[in-house]
Amino acid sequence: MTMIFGHRGAAGTSPENTMISFKEAIHAGADGIELDVHLSKDQIPVVIHDETVNRTTNGTGYVKDHLAEELIRLNAGRLFNEEAPIPLLKDVLKWACESEKPFIINIELKNNMIEYSNIEEIVIQLVKEHKLSERIILSSFNHSSMVQALKTDPVIETALLYSDGIYKPYDYARRAGARAIHPLMRTVKNELINQARENSVAVRPFTVNDEEEMRTLFEWGASAFFTDYPEKAVRIRESIT
Ligand code: G3P
Ligand code: CA
Repeated sequence: MTMIFGHRGAAGTSPENTMISFKEAIHAGADGIELDVHLSKDQIPVVIHDETVNRTTNGTGYVKDHLAEELIRLNAGRLFNEEAPIPLLKDVLKWACESEKPFIINIELKNNMIEYSNIEEIVIQLVKEHKLSERIILSSFNHSSMVQALKTDPVIETALLYSDGIYKPYDYARRAGARAIHPLMRTVKNELINQARENSVAVRPFTVNDEEEMRTLFEWGASAFFTDYPEKAVRIRESIT
């Protein structure tokens, strides 16, 4: 069964990367959530997409230049006229632990523009403290970081994000020890999904909001996909199974 991951929660219908959005995605029936992590000035993993707080909150400046206690006072619900703090990663993990449903959490390390020192070790430590290793997928556009993550924890699942037409990406993923590729939807073909499956590499395209594309991925048997509209994806999956 093709799994459905709520992209930044349910970013199409609620403020991205907030608890409101994550809860909405799980309530809609998503199998997992995807979230983005940066480090604050005091090295605390915080959940936000951009390097700066400018687009999604009422604050300004780089995430890395603010203390975590300053970041959590900002409103990340701004784009939907709602009140929602920037979550700390530990708060999302605590909620996941307490949830009755064992959904998957894809933590994307946003270390392709800024190389946050030790972000892999810091995030993996938090995951272990919450005993969530089995439910976590770490991903990044920074593939060296995913290799580094496996040095810290050889059994955590890693996935390689990419946006261009890589040749035999499943071979490349295996060389990096990754169990999955997370490609931009535009680069995905049925053949890629089949070849990756033959090589035991999962394919989870992003970001799939179009109904026809969702139907195509269900038909091709993609391992999963990321969508801003998990409720719509669940409805379509239910209609064809
Ligand atoms: O993880 C899939 C997707 O979230 C990667 O792109 O820019 O939405 O973080 P972006
Ligand atoms: Ca992301």
